[in-house]
Order: sequence, then C-alpha cells, then structure tokens
Amino acid sequence: MTINKVSRNILFYNKKTPVSSILLHDAISLCKILWNPSAKADFRTGEIFLNIAQRLREWRYGMIKPDVPSNVFNAIEGVLRNRGGEIDGAQSYFIKREACSTTEFSYALQVGRHPSAKPETVKAFETDLEESLYKVLGNVNIRVAFKPLRIIVDRNSEKRFLLRESWNTISLLEKNIGLCVPGYSIGDDISFYQLKLLNHVGLSVMAKSGFGKTQLLLSTLLTLCRLNSPDYLSLIIVDPKERDFPALENLPHLACPIIYEYSQAIVTLRLVMAELENRRKQRLPNYKPIIVCLDELADLVDALDKEESAELEKIVKRIGQKGRSFGIFLIGSSQRAYEVPENIRNKLELKIAGRSGNNNDAFAATGQSGLDLTKLAVGEFEIHPTNERLKGFFIADDKSERYQLDIAWFVNSISYGWLGVESRYHVDGVGPLVAQTEDEISAQPETKTTDGFIAYCKLINATGVKTIQQSHKSYFGKGCGVEKAQSYRDILLDDKGSV
Ligand SMILES: Nc1ncnc2c1ncn2[C@@H]1O[C@H](COP(=O)(O)OP(=O)(O)O)[C@@H](O)[C@H]1O
Ligand SMILES: [Mg+2]
Repeated sequence: MTINKVSRNILFYNKKTPVSSILLHDAISLCKILWNPSAKADFRTGEIFLNIAQRLREWRYGMIKPDVPSNVFNAIEGVLRNRGGEIDGAQSYFIKREACSTTEFSYALQVGRHPSAKPETVKAFETDLEESLYKVLGNVNIRVAFKPLRIIVDRNSEKRFLLRESWNTISLLEKNIGLCVPGYSIGDDISFYQLKLLNHVGLSVMAKSGFGKTQLLLSTLLTLCRLNSPDYLSLIIVDPKERDFPALENLPHLACPIIYEYSQAIVTLRLVMAELENRRKQRLPNYKPIIVCLDELADLVDALDKEESAELEKIVKRIGQKGRSFGIFLIGSSQRAYEVPENIRNKLELKIAGRSGNNNDAFAATGQSGLDLTKLAVGEFEIHPTNERLKGFFIADDKSERYQLDIAWFVNSISYGWLGVESRYHVDGVGPLVAQTEDEISAQPETKTTDGFIAYCKLINATGVKTIQQSHKSYFGKGCGVEKAQSYRDILLDDKGSV
C-alpha cells in the first residue's frame, strides 16, 4: 500500500503523465480498496475521488475544442506558461478553454489564474504575445482586458463594414425615435450598435487624426436622417475643414446651410440658444429634436477669441443642463481631446473614444483613468460610460475621387425616402452660409472699411438688422448698435434698389 501511495503521488506531480494512465491507476487503487476494505484505514480514499474528479475535468476540458484556432491558442498558452511561471507546482496563468470566443473582429481568450497570481501582470506579456502571434497571424493587435481577465486578439483590423451593405437593413428600423446606428457592436455576437442618441445630453467622438472620427460622424448623421423624418429632426452641421460634409448640403433635415466658418458657428449657436430659451418659456411637451454637430471642436475653440470661447462654454453648459428636456442635442468631435475645455467635454456625456496617442488623451476622451486606447484599429471605438466596443461603418475613402459621390448616394437615398416631407425648424438670420469660392475671397477688400463691410454683407446676403449686427461682429471683431446697423441696412437696401 505504501508503495502504491508513493507511486501515485509521483504520478500526480508528474505533469507529463497522460491523464488516462493516472485515471487507470486511480481506478485500480479504488478496486483494490473495494476488494480489501481494511486497506481504507491507511489510504485516503477521499483524495482519490478528488483526484479522479479533477482529472476527469481536465480530460473533459482537454476535449473541448477552444473556439480559437489551435495555433493561436497554443502560441498564447506558450507565452502564459513561459512568462507566467508556476506557483506551488501549478501554472500561474492558463487559458480557460471553455470560455474562449471568436467573433468576426477578434479572438477573446479568457484567462484563469492561480489565486495568488496578479491579473495586472498579464499586461506585461503583451509584447511577447504579439511576437509569438506574429508567426501565426502576422501583425495583430493584442489587448488585455480585465473583469473577467481576457486576452483579446484583434483580427482583420482592416476589415471594412460598408454602410452601403447594411443600408437596407438599417432603413427597416423603427422611425422617429431618435435612434441611430453608428456601426457594429463588438461582442460575442455581432449586431448593429443602436444608439438611442436623444436619451443623452451630448455625444463626443475623440480619436487621433485618421482613425475614423469623420466616418463615424457621417454614418451617425446619415443613419439618423434615414431613421428620422425631416419634420421631426433638424440638423445643424459645422464643418470647418470644408472637406467632409459638403455632400450633405442636400439633406432635407438641415435647419440651415452647412456652416464652414467659425464666426458663423458661434452666431448659429446663439440662435439655437435663443430657440432653447424660447422652448423653455413655452413649456410644451415633446419637443422635436435639433442636433448640432461640430466637427473638430478643438479647432473651433482655438479660433474663437477669449470672450467668444467663454460664450461657447456658456452655451454648451446651458444646453447640457436644459437641452435634453427641450430636444437640443450636441455632437462634437476632436483629435485632441484635452484641448477641448473640460467644461465642454463634461457636458458631452456620451463618449465615443477611438485610438488615442497616450493615456492622458484617453482620459480626456473617456473621463476614465487607466484606459489604454493606443492600440485600437482604424474605425474602432470604445463607448463610455457603458464600456462597450464599436466598429464604425466605412463609407468611402476620403482620399478617393468618389468620396463626395459616395456620400451623396446616401443623401439621395435619404431625400428619396422622405420625399414630400418638409423640414420644420429653420435657423433664420444666419444668411446663406455657403463656402466662398477663391474668386469671392479675393474679391473681398483687404482693409476693413465700411465699404468693405457693405460688400461683405452683400456677399453673405445679410439684410436683417440682427444679421447685420452679427456680421459686424464677425467682420470687424466687435458688435454695433441697432441704429448703426439700421444705417448699414439702408445703404444695403438702396444699393439693391439701384441694381
Ligand atoms: N470604420 C472604418 N473602417 C475602415 N476604414 C475606415 C473606417 N473609418 C475610417 N476609415 C479609413 O480611415 C480614413 C480616415 O478616416 P476619417 O474618418 O476621415 O478620420 P479622421 O476624421 O479621424 O481624421 C478613411 O478615409 C478610411 O479610409
Ligand atoms: Mg476628420
């Protein structure tokens, strides 16, 4: 019996012994005990049963095919074994075969650990993991996620999900509930990421340049317009780059032409603010939503002078406080999250963060510390505070000649879908905010004279007193009184009459 016990212990600790032979050994020992009940006294039967149960479990898990290709699995397991080492003769970290999953985007391998092994340590293995996977998959991104501890291998990070392919399915979703579909959610199964946008105060999209902010904004706006009729939802777009949104000019939802100038942006925001106060006074139930979308928010803040940027903060704060009750919603995007004043960032409560350069940026973009977003692929985002992941739709390559044409296709489809429905809310008094052509700009006088101002007013078609006051501010950098504005107005009307 003693020999039996010793040999069993040797077997038990020798990891290389096949499970089946241990099981056989245990079974024989058990038979011997049953055969000779007096042996029970000097043999710990309970231990045998435990052992059998453990081996059976191992054997069963050994049989479970992990959802992940075996070469990927083995590469990762190898690193965990070598780097993690052993504690008390057991591997510190191991992959839970039964809890691995594959999606179109990634392999997620759940990691189990010895009770005294720290989960954070796995993060230090990232480079080794990438190196060993390089031989199998080529260049891939690896991320370690916690709770539960997982190693996530991003596959096909270049894979594109064309908005056009999903357009018909999106078109069938319920209408006029303020929903939009900015992409696919990355989870165990793949589904549209449906955003009940209007349940929030504001949305910010922050990511390094070239990582898909504009595409995400475009797909958000396009699906919003597809799913909400123009007499329900109104849209104001500010595009200082003048590059990504011109094709949206024909959207029936626009409350005013697309705004390309910073000075006009603040004017428009003032008018939206006035609308908010107006609605607040009326106190009607169920306000129809107005969405203000500001691309490159940090640039806007940069371009404004001190007074104006304080005003911007005030407006955003006000919309943050009252907007949701009165149907006004802000969307802002920026490459440099921390350059957007904190007051503004905080109000854009729903945060979609893409690749960031460093952890400070990730903190500014998400409001949460300790996140590492430096490895997200193009078009991939994390959503906070819900902590979900999103792969944005691809619309068109911004370097391709067809960029505008491809966007225009969606705009046509939307216009066609809402044929005969009139848009409801208009921002008046901003004048046509068309982009100026080179000729128009060179036609503008260099020095800022009264004549120059009159020409400017004509150019932007400003005739109302209020508009003239606003134009005065954007032209001369300071406002003017009503009387002075009226005198300008008289000159303008005279000129018009004489033409
Ligand atoms: N979801 C996506 N899937 C695939 N490629 C994308 C995706 N989003 C963006 N891209 C690519 O990245 C390029 C830059 O995207 P863009 O949205 O203009 O970046 P940003 O506005 O952040 O500078 C696009 O032209 C496109 O080629
Ligand atoms: Mg952009």
